Amino acid sequence: MLNIALPKGRLGDKVYNLLANIGYDCSEIYDDNRKLIFTNEKSGVCYLLVKPSDVAIYIAHGAADIGIVGKDILEEDKLDLYELLDLKLGKCNMCVAAPENYIEDLDRPLRVATKFTNIAKNYYLSLNREIEIIKLNGSIEIAPLLGLSDVIVDIVETGTTLKENHLKVFETIMPISARLIANKSSYKFKNSEILDLVTKLKKELTEND
Ligand code: PRP
Repeated sequence: MLNIALPKGRLGDKVYNLLANIGYDCSEIYDDNRKLIFTNEKSGVCYLLVKPSDVAIYIAHGAADIGIVGKDILEEDKLDLYELLDLKLGKCNMCVAAPENYIEDLDRPLRVATKFTNIAKNYYLSLNREIEIIKLNGSIEIAPLLGLSDVIVDIVETGTTLKENHLKVFETIMPISARLIANKSSYKFKNSEILDLVTKLKKELTEND
């Protein structure tokens, strides 16, 4: 039995459909309920529905064998696990954004609001730019509008949130997409099941490319 941590929400739905297409289905998952664990003995899988930002934690601790997580979370948390495959789903960019008319004052530290404090710190360290981090947990776009920060470091998918709040992208830090990850000892002890799934996924992704 493979324990698979799926991120709850839009990305999780897409990933579940992909896995169901290659034989790892668990139809009960579509039922209207509040269950978080779904098992299908026949297809040999047990799905755990967890918060997207927690998937990698379950994997690193061995509470699940494999999982699907955004590259943003992997870069931010840098946990001890294997990244096996780019699923090319949930594509977006990690960006620096600011009000449309923003002009940087290079004589003082840049105030950066973000959920992704490590990504932001590493990015500005690479530019040798002194910053002050303001850690927020959501609705980051509001920060520069209220003068809480100069810029934000956040995910941009369609660009709608930025546009509707009169912000624009100033720099792109990195492209993001969903990744298949594995616990290190599961990869060793459940190697054939995991590789079997990876092979099927690769085939499915190539066929739909
Ligand atoms: C994410 C991100 C942006 C938005 C970008 O927020 O933080 O706010 O999506 O998407 P867009 O470019 O398609 O508009 P999320 O919906 O995860 O909520 P959050 O504000 O709680 O981070």
